[in-house]
Amino acid sequence: MKKVVRKIIIGGQWGDEGKGKMVDLFSDGVDYCIRFQGGSNAGHTIIFEGSVYKLRLLPSGVLRGATGILTSNVVIDLDVLKKEIQNTKNPKVLIDQKAIIVLPVYKTLDVKKDKSYGGIGTTGNGIGIAYSDKVNRCAFRMEDLLKPISEWKNKFKKIWHTHSSMMDYDSVKWFTHDMTTYLQSMASFFEDKIVDTGELIFKEIKNDKSFVIEGGQGTLLDINHGTYPFVTSSNTIATSVETSLGCHFPKKFDRVGVFKAYCTRVGNGEFQGELDNELGDKIREIGKEYGVVTGRDRRCGWLSLPLLKYAQRLNGFDFLCITKSDVLDGFDEVKLIDLDGNLKSFKGWDHTYGKKDFNSLDSNLISYIDYIEKQIEVPILVISTGADREQTIIRGDLF
Ligand code: IMP
Repeated sequence: MKKVVRKIIIGGQWGDEGKGKMVDLFSDGVDYCIRFQGGSNAGHTIIFEGSVYKLRLLPSGVLRGATGILTSNVVIDLDVLKKEIQNTKNPKVLIDQKAIIVLPVYKTLDVKKDKSYGGIGTTGNGIGIAYSDKVNRCAFRMEDLLKPISEWKNKFKKIWHTHSSMMDYDSVKWFTHDMTTYLQSMASFFEDKIVDTGELIFKEIKNDKSFVIEGGQGTLLDINHGTYPFVTSSNTIATSVETSLGCHFPKKFDRVGVFKAYCTRVGNGEFQGELDNELGDKIREIGKEYGVVTGRDRRCGWLSLPLLKYAQRLNGFDFLCITKSDVLDGFDEVKLIDLDGNLKSFKGWDHTYGKKDFNSLDSNLISYIDYIEKQIEVPILVISTGADREQTIIRGDLF
């Protein structure tokens, strides 16, 4: 009997590990694909039927016919989501009633705030403002779109009082003149998609439906456990998924960690192993390491085993997927930061690109993978050898 797919896909580094491809890989024929946190700061690139999709909010499984769910802990930029729904062929999408709306003025406020004191280099998508308004107890939730406009006024007042000192002329104008019309038009587009997704998910797990849950960002950007304060505003790790869904797991989910053969980060903050030199530039160029959402250069460096081990402690991965080893094809030497904090050197490898069979990989790459597995004590069962879905090595039956 075929196993029911129940997987959580989490980035093991600072985001951009190639989760989109992994989600797509496991999403074939699944009933539900879920985004459990973050917002349009994320950007997944998926190649599907010859077209390139850059999805920021829609869970990538919708391209394969799964019902997409955005949980209570996702912050929703209505413009972005509406466009993604319109540009994707008839996706089935449900949004939790408790999810917070990223108001258009939040983007201006995000950029202003990040510039005004000790900026961390946010993506400028209003994500931090939306999450802080949730904690300020003044945010506008998806369920508010279904309420009479007379009930919106009080909400607007609270949001105004929280941010008025930071608002520029255009934002004040938008806030006082256009906000109601904007939310009204969005309400008519989204009203039939707003439900209690926690109740649905709980019921459907019990009914043995299949699920892929995708994380945005990565473990080291987690608001509690990441490289604070250079982090995003939500919990990005597997142990936080149940809180976001609004139900516990009545059945086991596999926790899948995705990491690159090297490491990247965008925005500011510490980066052990960073290659701020020609080698880093070379990796960036070959690996096309530029932000999907912002187009910013990603900083490149060697893989850090202490950080991957920390990610394992936080998430409890059942297995790992290594991506982009092919980017390092032809390098004479590859390094990683070992568990003792020192750089360890490996002989470089070649001809990884497009390989589909583990034993046909360069023996130097096999040694590199074996070494990581032994140190982290988690099997590496998926090796991505290119951007395409077919360019993948899978060790064992994972479906
Ligand atoms: P924010 O999430 O836009 O508030 O940005 C906070 C930090 O997280 C910044 O350093 C961003 O560059 C980083 N970040 C947010 N989303 C992503 C992502 O999807 N990939 C990589 N870094 C991200």
